[in-house]
Amino acid sequence: MPERRPLIAGNWKMHKTLPEARTLARDIRQGVAPGRRAEVALAPPYTALAAVAAELAGSDLRLAAQDAFWEKQGAYTGAISPAMLADVGCRYVIVGHSERRRHFGDTDETVSRKLTAVIAAGLIPILCIGETQAEREADQTLQVVRRQLEGGLGTLKPATGAALVIAYEPVWAIGTGLTATPEQAQTVHHFIRSLLREFLGAPAEAIRIQYGGSVTPDNAAILLAQPDIDGALVGGASLKPELFLPIIAAAG
Ligand code: PGA
Repeated sequence: MPERRPLIAGNWKMHKTLPEARTLARDIRQGVAPGRRAEVALAPPYTALAAVAAELAGSDLRLAAQDAFWEKQGAYTGAISPAMLADVGCRYVIVGHSERRRHFGDTDETVSRKLTAVIAAGLIPILCIGETQAEREADQTLQVVRRQLEGGLGTLKPATGAALVIAYEPVWAIGTGLTATPEQAQTVHHFIRSLLREFLGAPAEAIRIQYGGSVTPDNAAILLAQPDIDGALVGGASLKPELFLPIIAAAG
């Protein structure tokens, strides 16, 4: 089985002014252990990408964006293309986050277009999927995850496999303080891996599947110890070095 290096990504969402973003990026850069196992990525808002890129220059910390539009350029007021994100120094782009689906109308179809465009620009998408509370209670978790994964991947070719990250984020666990138990998360992650095998074949073994949803220093180690959990997508706790750094350390 290929070694999957855990990816711990901080999703800053709509937080941080420029001075705050610089300080947070610097504190994380200075606080991470040099020989750590985890790859670390920071996803500040668009306005802070260049400033955070400058703070991370010369380190092995990665820059990530929180979304992208699928067109390369053109008359799309307010939109940012994957090429622009590559230009500013991003390596990863989050697509299909549940907050985008909920507040901005992203669908499996538009998420798939974004994912394809991100890969075409030479960047790595972090595709977010996950069920709502109502869907879990109705026992539809696996169906929802299948639909979102299949829809989001679209016609993706197996060759692209390794340049892809999946984030399983149960919507009911995001920002709520509720976390999936390690067993609940592992069950879904294992299922996602079997779907990736079905859709993409052998490259599935190398694809990292992050868990997201109220990850904290208290639950990170046990979640990351599960065989199919290959990192974390962290929201609230990524805004504070004293919480984010121990989560990175929990990956070993
Ligand atoms: P949370 O957010 O860690 O604040 O729950 C996770 C996410 O939305 O990616």
